Amino acid sequence: MEHGPGTGYELPGRHESFWMETTPETSYPPLPGNVETDVAVVGGGITGITAAVLLKQAGYAVTVIEGDRICKGVTGHTTAKVTSLHRLIYANLIDRFGGGQAKQYADANQAAIEMIASFVREYNIPCDFERKPAYTYAESAESRDLVAAEADAARSLGLPATFTDDVPLPGRTYGAVRFADQAQFHPLKYLLRLASLIPGDGSRVFEKTRALEVHDERDRSMVRTERGTVTAKAVVLATHYPFYDGPGFYYARMYPSRSYVLGIRIGEPFPEGMFINAESPAHSWRSQPAEGGELVLVGGMEHRTGENVDTREHYRSLADYARSVYPVRSIDYHWSAQDYITIDGVPYIGRLADGHENVYIATGFRKWGMTNGTAAAMILADMIRGRENPWSGVYAPDRFKPMASIQTFLAHNIEVAEKYIGGAISRPSGDLRDVLPGEGRILMIEGRKTGVFRDREGRVHAVNPTCTHKGCVVAWNSAEETWDCPCHGSRYDAYGKVIHGPAVKGLPPRGG
Ligand code: FES
Repeated sequence: MEHGPGTGYELPGRHESFWMETTPETSYPPLPGNVETDVAVVGGGITGITAAVLLKQAGYAVTVIEGDRICKGVTGHTTAKVTSLHRLIYANLIDRFGGGQAKQYADANQAAIEMIASFVREYNIPCDFERKPAYTYAESAESRDLVAAEADAARSLGLPATFTDDVPLPGRTYGAVRFADQAQFHPLKYLLRLASLIPGDGSRVFEKTRALEVHDERDRSMVRTERGTVTAKAVVLATHYPFYDGPGFYYARMYPSRSYVLGIRIGEPFPEGMFINAESPAHSWRSQPAEGGELVLVGGMEHRTGENVDTREHYRSLADYARSVYPVRSIDYHWSAQDYITIDGVPYIGRLADGHENVYIATGFRKWGMTNGTAAAMILADMIRGRENPWSGVYAPDRFKPMASIQTFLAHNIEVAEKYIGGAISRPSGDLRDVLPGEGRILMIEGRKTGVFRDREGRVHAVNPTCTHKGCVVAWNSAEETWDCPCHGSRYDAYGKVIHGPAVKGLPPRGG
């Protein structure tokens, strides 16, 4: 069992994503200098890789650049449900967007399931792809009407939805919306094979190449990286959160959210299906074939990134919850993920903004990145090819529906502004002697806020805790041992190196 930081807690199992532990690390080269290409794809997750494959198949030379190794980011930490059942969304979408655009969202996500299935078939990818029903179930009597309404709304949009009282999980439930013929898979086995289709015929994949900025001109764009430039007719920003915001102000229209996953073994077979509850906090379930017997993935306990709480508590709560449902024999893995939630709950997929005709974004998948990310790749590939896409309207980044989202928009911006100005959630506390091995804290040292991490050998590492993206004060994440920014979700390792954008520069060390 891996031990948590030296403050008396033990976190269960290996601190690693099962997907990453069971696939080899990639070794694509870094960008060798300045290159030209038809389409530059920034970000090697499910959106970037799928878009690159679709565009290469359409005859384009594509260059993928990834700041770290491909598939190690959000895609490597998902629960990998391939479903158009996104907890509760369709009744709300019909209400806010109307039936036409709600149907676009439904069709896009159903088409994404079939796109993944067809890649698996066509390239014979051994990725544990299995058809399963998906359920959103009510844990309380009050939620029963909500899941029933969701079943009605989804069915009215042509989705394979029914309401059922037969929820094959232990414990009391109050009905569920069930989607037939959905799927689950091993996302990295799938994507590493897809990525291997990219190199050749003028297309390339470069890793360890962090993009720093984008220059967009009338008929071409240039991505400047730390290792050279990529000049292209079109640029796809598939970096989860667009590190280049342009005039789109995406940083003000989304918030980052973290959630947690445990890989457990239970003393009985897991039922047929993938499950998530309708209430907060989220409780998500699926199974996965694994060496040594079926692994069960239980996830949830979401919260905003950078909240100044002991994040190890979320793993502990999830473990307690899992034990309350199943006889847990062992907890073999624990990992966490970060997602972005847009102010109206629908991703932004399309052109970055007016005047940036060659730059495309896909972000804000609201924890449903397997299908929304694949749909994004299909939409952007069509746009770059100059083809109509039937689902692009609902995802248009320049939509703004004041009636639907103005209150959330204002509340979010006021909250972010407070954090930006005051570092309200990262108030300095204590002094250097209070910082235990494996712990980080914001301290006031010589009149300046300082992020202090003490490693297990007792050495102290001090950084300027001001996020290099737009200046919010980072907070210590005790479960992951990272500095996390509450404003737009940039994350840095304990020594200040960027591990997740939008920031592209690390936290500077504080001397002395
Ligand atoms: Fe934007 Fe930190 S991520 S200020």
